[in-house]
Amino acid sequence: MGKSETVKVRVPATTANCGPGFDALGIACNIYNELELTLFTNEVLEIAVSGEGKQYLPTDDSNLIWHVIKDLLQKTNSSYKGAHIKMHNNIPLSHGLGSSAAAIVAGILAFNLAVGEPFSKEEMLKIATDVEGHPDNVAPAIFGGMTISLQENDAVKTFSFIPQLPLKMIVAVPEFFLATKKARQVLPEKISVKDAAFNIAHAASLVAAMCTGSSDVLRYAFADKLHQPYRAALIPGMYDVFAAAEQAGALGAALSGAGPSLIAFTIDNENAIGEAMVKAFAAHSIDSHYLILDIDAQGAMRI
Ligand code: HSE
Repeated sequence: MGKSETVKVRVPATTANCGPGFDALGIACNIYNELELTLFTNEVLEIAVSGEGKQYLPTDDSNLIWHVIKDLLQKTNSSYKGAHIKMHNNIPLSHGLGSSAAAIVAGILAFNLAVGEPFSKEEMLKIATDVEGHPDNVAPAIFGGMTISLQENDAVKTFSFIPQLPLKMIVAVPEFFLATKKARQVLPEKISVKDAAFNIAHAASLVAAMCTGSSDVLRYAFADKLHQPYRAALIPGMYDVFAAAEQAGALGAALSGAGPSLIAFTIDNENAIGEAMVKAFAAHSIDSHYLILDIDAQGAMRI
C-alpha cells in the first residue's frame, strides 16, 4: 500500500457580502479550521472531527471534505484512492462565517499539497467556487484580506487587498442555525433598477472607504437592499442589533454572509459593541455570544 506525504493546512473563517456586496465581497477573519490529510493507494477512509460542530459532521463517505478530495482524485486520474482525514474546527458551523467554504478550501489545498501542487491559487479558486456556488467566501479563504470577486461565463476573478483601517470585526453569534440554502430561498428572482443602483453605489463606497481608510465613508456604506431586507424575517431583531452596535460606537453592521451571525465593523469600543449586540438579540429572546475578530491577511496556508 502506497501513501502520500501527510500534509496539514489551516483555513480562515470568512464573512461574506459585508452589507451591499452580495455574492461579491468577503473578508478573511482570524479564526481557523485545520485539516491533516494523507492519501492512500488503496480504498481506505478514516475521518476524525474535533471542535466546532463535530456532532453534526459526518465521518463517512458523505463528508464534504472527502467529497471534494474524492472528486479531485477522480478528475486527475490519481493513483490514490483513499484517505486519512483529521479536521479540527474553530469556525462555528452554519452560522455565516464560511465554515463550508473553509472545508472546501481545506480539502482542495491539502489535496494540492499532497499530490505535488498541480493547481495554482487561481485554479483552486475556480474549483472551490464550482463546489460552493458563489466565490465570496472561498476567495478570502484562499487569498486572505478583503476580496472582491466575480464570475463571468466560466471564469472566476478575484482582487484581494488589505483594508487601510485598523478594523476589528465584532460578530454576534446567535444560538440557532440557518442553512445558506434556506437563506437564499427567500431572495426575490428580480429586483428594481433603483435597488440595484443603491447597492452598486454602496458597495463601491464600501470598497473605496476600505482602500483609502476613510471611516467617514464607511459610516454610510454598509446599507443593502438586495438581500438583508428579505432575510430579516429569518433573524429576529436583526435591525435592532445593527442599531445597538452603531449606538455603541460601530462604524456599521451587516448580516455575516447569509446569517444568522451579525457583524459590526469598528476601530474601538469592541466589548461595548459586542455586549450591546448580545443585549439587543436578548430583547428578541435570542441567546447569543460575541467574537472579536481581526482581518486575516494570509488566507489558507500549510502549517
Ligand atoms: N453570498 C452568500 C449569500 C454567502 O449571501 O447567500 C453565503 O455564505
